[in-house]
Amino acid sequence: MENFVFQNPTKIYFGKNAISNINAELVKFGTNVLLVYGGGSIKRNGLYDTVIQCLKSAGKNITELSGVMPNPRREKVYEGISYCKDKNIDFILAVGGGSVIDCSKFVAAGAKTDDDFWESYLVNQKICNAALPIGTILTLAGTGSEMNSGGVISDFENHLKLHYGSPLLFPKFSILDPSYTFSLPREQLIYGAVDAMSHILESYFSAPDISNVSDDLAESLFKSLMYNLDLALKKPKDYLPRSNLMWCCTLALNGLLSLGKEGDWMSHEIEHSLSAFYDIPHAVGLSIVHPNHLMYVLESSIPKFKRFAQNVFGIEKKEMTDEQIARAGISMLSNYFRSMNVPTTLGEINVQSNDIPKLAASVKTFPISYAPKYCYDDVVAVLTNSLEIIHYD
Ligand code: NZQ
Ligand code: ZN
Repeated sequence: MENFVFQNPTKIYFGKNAISNINAELVKFGTNVLLVYGGGSIKRNGLYDTVIQCLKSAGKNITELSGVMPNPRREKVYEGISYCKDKNIDFILAVGGGSVIDCSKFVAAGAKTDDDFWESYLVNQKICNAALPIGTILTLAGTGSEMNSGGVISDFENHLKLHYGSPLLFPKFSILDPSYTFSLPREQLIYGAVDAMSHILESYFSAPDISNVSDDLAESLFKSLMYNLDLALKKPKDYLPRSNLMWCCTLALNGLLSLGKEGDWMSHEIEHSLSAFYDIPHAVGLSIVHPNHLMYVLESSIPKFKRFAQNVFGIEKKEMTDEQIARAGISMLSNYFRSMNVPTTLGEINVQSNDIPKLAASVKTFPISYAPKYCYDDVVAVLTNSLEIIHYD
């Protein structure tokens, strides 16, 4: 293993009725609470009433920030910041998926500064020196935002979807009750798992490739996600696969898998550009871009791609060369996403070849382990390849 420093301060309450622990947490924070949620799923599945009851019985004054949309916008963050300032908010409780949690993180940071949060943090990546404490109740497993220090906000007017992270943005606690995911539409359940798979691959396909625990964990988690997603789709009322899926997704981006690894993250960068122009679900963009990006850089690390093909997809054909096995693995990854009805080509989201230059121009490129000179032309090539279904031979 390479050297690393690891600290993850988020306390996790996991399991059925984990919300019964919330009072022990709420007493640690002040009286004025901002409750943040999305477009109404928590009202339809009853979680909203439970949360209001918990907050009231803990003697909290509640202000609500509702209507956080998927791919959360900067305007919603400004709305939350003004509530925090007007009502002297002490604590933020985010109830929802990654969008609600990410929005809450930037409300938390923006509430503690007079500067514009978007310019300071997302655009200029300045250090965050203060943020309100936040807690989360997760309703969609996927992003890992419930146990990490990052978040992503969009400015659709200017076609920007930007990421920022700070140790101050780790949630103080997160309540992970897999039962809350029973109300998810089938496609959202799949999208969450696809996002988590992509998080695993972003770390796995990067240096160093010599034996290390992070890569071993990555393969295990990837297989567990596939296995449990399959079970959850076949038996949507079963708790066990939901619980495994939820914890897999958290582990995929809580810092554990990136220990001692450089990380790639170019697929996420390209996806953010797609989302910023077309407001598509994050996982849809990843399902299109990630296999194509991997196929594009594959020649730089054939033994690693062969290992993935063999250990994750069980490809073991004696008559194939190492490179053919490596390519077959990434082709199977793309086929797997397609078998879940997640788009794998740009045409399926109505992106044509003449859209590619503007998309590529908006991607911020950086050196990655398998392509230290990765630049605009490489993004164009990956997006061009993404117009067609992947064929490995
Ligand atoms: O808004 P509501 O009505 O709650 O409906 C949501 C939304 O329409 C619905 N939903 C959530 N829980 C539900 C439910 N519907 C029924 N039952 C439930 N239990 O699902 C829809 C999607 O929700 P969203 O929060 O947008 O999904 P997700 O968790 O996938 O979050 C995506 C956002 O997170 C960012 C993405 O880019 C995107 O903006 N990411 C955040 C990361 C992070 N903070 O670490 C990393 C990721 O790579 C990702 O970029
Ligand atoms: Zn992601």
